[in-house]
Amino acid sequence: FSLKNYNTFHFDVKSKYFAAPESSDQLADLLQNNIAKNEKILVLGGGSNILFTKDFDGLVIKPIIDNIKIIDSNDSTAWVEAGAGVEWDAFVAWAVDQNYAGVENLSLIPGNVGACPVQNIGAYGTEVKDIITHVNGVFLDSGESFSLKNKDCNFSYRNSIFKQELKDKTIITSVCFKLNKKHTFMLHYGDVKDMVDRLGGASLSNIRNAIISIRESKLPDHTIYGNVGSFFKNPVVSKSIANKIKDEYADAPVYDISETHSKLAAGWMIDQCHWKGKSLKNAAVHENQALVLINKTGKATGEEVLNLAAEIEDSVYKKFDVKIEKEVNVI
Ligand code: EPU
Repeated sequence: FSLKNYNTFHFDVKSKYFAAPESSDQLADLLQNNIAKNEKILVLGGGSNILFTKDFDGLVIKPIIDNIKIIDSNDSTAWVEAGAGVEWDAFVAWAVDQNYAGVENLSLIPGNVGACPVQNIGAYGTEVKDIITHVNGVFLDSGESFSLKNKDCNFSYRNSIFKQELKDKTIITSVCFKLNKKHTFMLHYGDVKDMVDRLGGASLSNIRNAIISIRESKLPDHTIYGNVGSFFKNPVVSKSIANKIKDEYADAPVYDISETHSKLAAGWMIDQCHWKGKSLKNAAVHENQALVLINKTGKATGEEVLNLAAEIEDSVYKKFDVKIEKEVNVI
């Protein structure tokens, strides 16, 4: 089964089997099937955070459960459940349309609802952990269902229990969110406030539109240049390392995240190593955002992108003495 249209790098790889269950019941039946019991399983969302280096010798399951339900609501809050297969940005558009706040800063992030808790997607001052109440799914081995409360998901920056203890052990079927009918806006990050002012001031739809235009100006469209958004995570380092970098480079972006640690901007460091716009075979560094690696010619392979990434990691390490880690999931 060709996965070319199921990964946003658009690598031409195949899986032995592929299934797209439309409901939790269909998924439960599928997991009882001999193929599911005997083959390796890979769960795929929007394919926007995955790098295939070769064909997948097993069963790919892509849940397409795609309903949105309001579970409960009062004067200030709406509790909403969205199926794993709902496209993330369609969910954000729906929430903004209902006048529910909480996800507008996460506009235009590629991928599906079912993938959003896995790496705790985040942008422009919001992380999805701030609004998730529960994550529901089934265990791959037993087929038993689970519902994990927010605090049991061990969320942190681009991380959760689904990338750690539960890695490759579950399929998420739906996610429950707590959205606000009373709005507090999150405008402090980067150019968001300026852009929102230009559109006429703070409202959910102006924030959504501002973020869409900021993202469109920096991040490539994967249908033109295959990519997975940020390829690397922003490294978290001790304050002493951050201070050393700040002493040497006055304009280095450094965000304090605790008493002892700071987050550096990997994109800035890669840019300082002059990688922006450079190619290695068919893979390249995006010319507007150095954190994004692209399938420049449409013919790149996972190996080519990984080779480019290794050279970048190496040069950042040589220049800054900091190791940057991949955000993407390598298969
Ligand atoms: N910068 C450069 N050169 C570059 C890229 C960035 O100098 O080529 C500088 C920027 O000027 C800025 C700083 O680095 O001072 C940070 O850049 P930016 O605000 O664009 O954000 P980022 O750290 O590169 C993170 C997320 C993005 C998210 C943005 C906005 C990670 C790994 N990435 O990127 O998430 O959209 O913040 O909140 O945390 C994604 O995960 O796929 C993603 C796109």
